[in-house]
Formats: sequence, C-alpha cells, structure tokens
Amino acid sequence: MQKKKTTIEEEKGILGWIEYRLPIFSFLRHTASYQVPKNLNYAWNFGSLAGIALILQIITGIFLAMHYTPHVDYAFNSVERIMRDVNYGWLIRYTHAVGASLFFMVVYVHIMRGLYYGSYKRPREMVWFVGIFIFFAMMATAFMGYVLPWGQMSFWGATVITNLFSAIPLIGNKIVIWLWGGFSVDNPTLNRFFALHYLLPFVIIALAMLHVIALHRFGSGNPSGVEVKSDKDTIPLYPYYIVKDCITFGLFFVVLFVFVFYAPNYLGHPDNYIEADSMVTPCGFCYLGLINQKLKVVLIARYSRNFFGPKKIKSGNFTPYRKCAARTLPLAAAAAAMVASGLLFCAALRLKAKAQHKNAKRAKYAMAAAAAAAAMVARQPCRPAWRMPVSAGYPRRCGSVQRCCPAV
Ligand code: HEM
Repeated sequence: MQKKKTTIEEEKGILGWIEYRLPIFSFLRHTASYQVPKNLNYAWNFGSLAGIALILQIITGIFLAMHYTPHVDYAFNSVERIMRDVNYGWLIRYTHAVGASLFFMVVYVHIMRGLYYGSYKRPREMVWFVGIFIFFAMMATAFMGYVLPWGQMSFWGATVITNLFSAIPLIGNKIVIWLWGGFSVDNPTLNRFFALHYLLPFVIIALAMLHVIALHRFGSGNPSGVEVKSDKDTIPLYPYYIVKDCITFGLFFVVLFVFVFYAPNYLGHPDNYIEADSMVTPCGFCYLGLINQKLKVVLIARYSRNFFGPKKIKSGNFTPYRKCAARTLPLAAAAAAMVASGLLFCAALRLKAKAQHKNAKRAKYAMAAAAAAAAMVARQPCRPAWRMPVSAGYPRRCGSVQRCCPAV
C-alpha cells in the first residue's frame, strides 16, 4: 500500500512526536487563542464553572463508588462506613453531596443568564437545545444519586417520583413496574440506579462537549446583545478569560468548603440518616403522597378533619396539616392550572375539529346539490329558442340550470 503523504513537519522531542501523530497541542493552542467578546461580565463565567463542578462531581463520585455497596441490605451501612472509617471519606462524601446542590445553583445562574441576555436566540439555538438535554440528564443523575444512600428520603423519594409515571394513561403502571424491576422500589431498582448514576455524568460530559462545539461555531454572545463585528471587539480566551474564570472558581470553592466544613448537612434532610423503611413514611412526604394519589379526595378529607373533626383545640395551627396546607395549596393550584390549560387546549382542538367537520359536510352537500342540478339540466330538452346564431353572440340563456345548446 502507498504511504499517505503529509505536508506537516515532525518537530523534535517527545512532544513533537506526539503532536505529529495526535495534534492535541495545536488543538489546545487553538482553544487558548479562541477570540471572545471583550465586554463579557461575570454572568459568562458560569459555563466554565459548571464544567468544573461536573468534573468535581465525577472525581468525588468515583472515590465514593470504590466504597459503596449497591444492595438494600448494605447500602446505608456502606455510606456510614465511608463517613466513619474510610480515610477522608466524610470529606469526599460531603463534597459530593454539597457539590451536587452547588452544581445546580451554578447551572441555574447559567440558564438565567441565557434567558436574560437572549443567548438562546439565533444563531445559538443549538447551544440552548443541547443545554436542555444536559439539564434533563443532570436531573436524572441527581435523582438517582439521592436514592443511593438508601435512607428514608431516598426510598420515599424514589417511590414518589417513579410513581409519577403512573399518571400516563393506559401504560403508566406498566412503566412504573418496569422502572422498579419489580413491584416496589427494591434491590433491582437500587442496582440500576447505581449503574445509571455512574453512567450519566459521562453522557453529560459528551453533551457538554457538543454544547461547546456548537458555541464555538458562532462564538459567545455578549451583554450588549449586538454581535461582535471585528477582531477589535474581541480578546483571546487565554490569558484574559482564563484568569477571570480562576476568580469564580476560587469563590466557588470558598462557598463549597464553607458548607462542607461548617454546615455539611444544611442542604440535606435529617430523615436520610434513618435507614429506608417501607412501613414508615417520613414526615413531610404527605404532600408528595397527595400528588401520588393524583390529588384526590385525600386533600378534602384532611382539611375537613381539621375543621370538622372532634378536637379539643379547634384551630388547625397546631396540626401537621397546616404545614401540609402551606405546601399542598400552591402545588394543588399549579396542578389545577395545568389541568385547566389541558382542558382548554382539548376544547380548542375539539372546536377546530367540529368546524372542519361542518365545513367538510357543507362542501359535500354543495357538491351533491351541484351534481343534482347538473343532472337536471342535462335532462332538459335543448330548446330551439336558445339556439342562437353565432353572430348573435354567445348563447345568452345558457346557465347552470338550463342546458347549453350548441351554437349554430
Ligand atoms: C453541565 C452543564 C453545562 C456546562 C458544563 C455548560 C458549559 C458552557 C460553557 C463553557 C459555555 C461558554 C461560557 C459561557 O457562556 O458561560 C456555555 C455557554 C452557553 N450555555 Fe452552557 N453549560 C451547561 C449547561 C447549560 C444549560 C442547562 C443551558 C440551557 C438550557 C445552557 C445554555 C448555554 C448557552 C445558551 C450558552 C451561550 C451563551 C452565550 O454565548 O451567550 N448551558 N455553556
């Protein structure tokens, strides 16, 4: 076979040897000299910060996985072992748990920047679309990660959220059983959640790469909302924005470690330090239970018990239901709004279909009437009086109800 010719010179040394075969260094040089609008504010730092948060989650997650056991009998205890016996296990776990919350906050700011400055508009729609997929993958990953410690909140969170699929008509219940791998949240569920929780962050990395490739097609937007016109409006990514990014990375780690060292459980829930028990629902899950039962009569039953039930203290202020009310009412209102808008939409579709049906019927009748009239005309004799000479012009009485006689 003939050797493929190349015009690229091979440089000396080990780096030159690698670069000749894998142009990784020229790729990095290209990335560093990438031109970025010079008027970016700090809102534009959150994309790279999200990347750092993602890498931090993956690194701490891999170390946690080395000591975690995905089995309903051991999961809770394996996490406790990480906290107590594994060297710096507490640091790795708290960094992973707090890091997850901060990752979401960073991405929320990133999304809000996009909404505020219109970054989602032409020509960066694709950057936005990929971002939406990243966000869904992030939510799935975080949900499955929360199930892994197998505490009360893990178990009941998994039960409630997976049960939401049961609202899908006809196939909903089958989907839920398929997701669980059984007839309740159990060992198969925990196993598959662990497998997917390990896998999805790598899918997110791949999506984040697509995200940046799509971004580099047209370059970053900027706070003015006017696209850059020439090189005068831009500066290279390195050193200017890399240095600026380092400031936000530093601030991020300050916030992260303030939480990790001083309030590691502040963003968590104490009930997750109780091992999962399918016979005990944690306090605070009542409102999710309500969604689960599709906001049925339970709501009314609970409130009516508050108001009409036999109690020494009449006020509902001292009952747990009051807390429930504060949480369920906005949810109920949101659900009602969704149902109402769904119904309106269906009604609009129905009206449109009805109108179309009516028009089609009308057209059908009109066509039938025209055909009948034409048949009637065809049956009429051709009257000599209508036989006009061509010189007299076109046969005048030739119309839709009278047969046209050939002109003579
Ligand atoms: C793991 C999560 C994510 C990572 C690592 C990431 C990374 C980045 C990076 C590095 C940039 C360029 C710097 C910047 O403009 O901040 C960027 C830009 C952008 N991202 Fe993300 N992103 C993520 C999630 C999202 C999500 C969820 C959305 C929206 C649904 C989104 C929408 C955008 C948009 C529209 C831009 C272009 C902004 C502009 O140039 O005006 N990103 N992203």
